[in-house]
Amino acid sequence: MQGFLPLSANVVMFWRSCVTGLKCVRGNFVCINNTSNHTLMDTNRLSATIEAALNAQMTKEAHASQIYLSYGSWASSQGFGGVANFLFRHAEEERNHMMKVLEYILKRGGTVNVTAIPEPPEDPNSISNCFESVFKHEVDNTNAIYKIVKMSFDESDWATWNLMQWFVKEQVEEETLALELLDKIKIAGGPNMAKSELYSLDRDLEKMPDEVRAAQDVTAANP
Ligand SMILES: [Fe+2]
Ligand SMILES: [Fe+2]
Repeated sequence: MQGFLPLSANVVMFWRSCVTGLKCVRGNFVCINNTSNHTLMDTNRLSATIEAALNAQMTKEAHASQIYLSYGSWASSQGFGGVANFLFRHAEEERNHMMKVLEYILKRGGTVNVTAIPEPPEDPNSISNCFESVFKHEVDNTNAIYKIVKMSFDESDWATWNLMQWFVKEQVEEETLALELLDKIKIAGGPNMAKSELYSLDRDLEKMPDEVRAAQDVTAANP
C-alpha cells in the first residue's frame, strides 16, 4: 500500500501494511511509500518560529487566567463579592483562550509544550489599582498577539493569521471593557472612591456582561 496518511501530532500509529512491516510513523513523520528507505514526510504545518510563539501565547493566556484568579481572590477577601465574581468569570475566559491556542497547535500537526505558568503579580492595593493592572495586562497580551500576527503575515501563514484575527478582535473587546470600568472608577473618584461608590460598583459588576460590542458592529440606529 502506498499513500499519505494524515496524522495529528499526538497520534502514534503503525502502518502495518508497509512492505517491511516495521513502524512507519515516528512523531510527526509519516511513511509515504513502501520502499525500505522509508521516506518520511513532515506533517507539521507550523514553522518552528510560529509553533514556539503559539506555545508561548498559550502559556500567556494561562498566566492571564491566573492573574484574574488571584485578583478575584483578593477582591473577595476585601468583601467585594461582585468584583470577585466578574474577575473569576474572566479567569475562565482566559482559560478558554488558552485551549483555543492549544487545539490550534494540535490541529496543525504541531507539538504542544505545557510549561510552568509564571506567578501572578502582587495583590492590588485598591479597586482602582486592580483595574489599572488588569488594563495593563490586557495591553501587554494584545502586543504579544500583534507580534504573532506580524510573524504569520511575514511567513504567509494565513491559517495562523486567520486564527490571530479572532484574538485581535477579542483583545479590542477586553481592552474596551477594562477602559469602560476605569472610566466609571475615575468618575466615582478614582483611588479616593467613596464607600457608597465602591458599594455601587461592586453591585454592578456582579451582573455586568462579559462581552462588550465591538466598534465594527455598531450602527447609527443602534450606537
Ligand atoms: Fe485572552
Ligand atoms: Fe484578556
